[in-house]
Amino acid sequence: MSNSASIESRYQACLAKLRKRGQEHVLRWWDDLGPADREHLLTDIESIPWEILDRLIRSHVLIRPDHTVPRDLSPPTVYKQPPTPGQRALYDQAVRLGRDLIRTGKVAALTVAGGQGTRLGFDGPKGALEVTPVGGKTLFELFAETIKAARRCYDSPIPWYIMTSPANHEQTAEYLKSRDFFGLPETDVILFRQGMLPAFDFQGRLLLARKHRLALAPDGHGGSLKALVASGALSDLCTRGIEIITYFQVDNPLVKPFDPLFIGLHAKTGSEMSTKVTPKADDLERVGNVCVHDGKVVVIEYFDLPDELAHARNQDGSRKFDAGNPAIHLLNVDFVDRVVARSFQMPFRRADKAVAYVDQTGSLQEPTAPNAVKLEAFIFDVLPLAANPLLLEVDRAEEFSPVKNATGVDSLESSKRDQNARACRWLESAGVTVPRKPDGQPDVTIAISPSFALDAEDVKESRHQVPVLKPGGAVYIE
Ligand code: UD1
Repeated sequence: MSNSASIESRYQACLAKLRKRGQEHVLRWWDDLGPADREHLLTDIESIPWEILDRLIRSHVLIRPDHTVPRDLSPPTVYKQPPTPGQRALYDQAVRLGRDLIRTGKVAALTVAGGQGTRLGFDGPKGALEVTPVGGKTLFELFAETIKAARRCYDSPIPWYIMTSPANHEQTAEYLKSRDFFGLPETDVILFRQGMLPAFDFQGRLLLARKHRLALAPDGHGGSLKALVASGALSDLCTRGIEIITYFQVDNPLVKPFDPLFIGLHAKTGSEMSTKVTPKADDLERVGNVCVHDGKVVVIEYFDLPDELAHARNQDGSRKFDAGNPAIHLLNVDFVDRVVARSFQMPFRRADKAVAYVDQTGSLQEPTAPNAVKLEAFIFDVLPLAANPLLLEVDRAEEFSPVKNATGVDSLESSKRDQNARACRWLESAGVTVPRKPDGQPDVTIAISPSFALDAEDVKESRHQVPVLKPGGAVYIE
């Protein structure tokens, strides 16, 4: 078949599918398009998973989905730290098991980095954002150094999987290549793309981002499971003998992905998917709430948690629903395989967003109020399918300070402050003198490279290498 014949037959196939659904308006500018643009448009249209969307348009776009949050939620059972005297032996064994699993090459890291990072307003993949309070290290650089340090410490070839989206894949790949994968072997840094779904107007009609492009958006981090399989990354994990995926978001520079206690407890208790939880900063903190419903662990987003539950108190006055979700999970490779192989359809959530689109006259409209529906799946929606899900409470000051917003809460500024505070605590616990202001705040700016220390214990071993910290100074310790 000649190229033009094949374009014509693809066009006819697309037209037939679109007509059946009253969506042929997206081919309105076809006659004006050159060959390359036609190719783009057909590729976009062919990527639409109608087998899912025909149903979702009816249930999630034309009407608001019946997303009633159950009222009969209860707080989950959480493993706390430090352990109770009765738990001490279990925790000790778990740490040993966790270390063994990392050492024997059973653990791989997965960073989900396919989001659009719209709230931050950073032009580029979020992983390329410089986040450390000093030293200008980027998120990807911190994670790569963490993985490098863990590979060294455990003498294990830990691979790093990074989920991108078609919208940021090339930029992410170029960035990592330009930085020489931060010294990791290129073959151990595996990028894979998540899927995209079209955005719809409130009448369920596809939107054009340009005359030759559909308005598409990443299908949510829940898309990672399908993408792991579709991209071949899951086969790669199996070939490498990996059993456990340590999953974290691209936005959290404090994450400790190789936590022997967490990994060991996960394995020892036969959990298929585990989650760290952090006590919430306040009743209404903008995090997911890990809860139990009908005997299953579920995550209820902050905006969905009924007010009376958000403010509920235990008899001792403590917060009843206090298990915030820092989005740090462990997933068994077998579990991912089973969920995807059984064609489990992740529930989709509707988000109303302002989406730029080309109108009937061909002009680009850039609304500031929501005009469109995007559909996303969330990773934590597979928790109810997991056997024995384990929850481990961690200290947020040690492990969670995401960079999400340009200013204020969960911003670059707040995260730098928290990184500095953690570095100062680690140094002081190792006996290093840290200059402090009269109000107790650090009078020094410090970042500790993961290659120097992965935790406070490591600092103790290398404390003699720490330079004298002068008031008002800034030091990157590596
Ligand atoms: C998320 C969690 C929330 C949790 C909080 C912790 C959701 C819906 N909620 O909130 O429960 O308490 O993090 O910080 O996730 N991503 C993709 N592909 C996508 C969408 C997102 O890879 O299609 C990645 C992003 O790159 C990012 C992460 O997922 O690494 C989180 O996405 P984001 O939309 O920022 O989640 P939050 O609403 O902040």
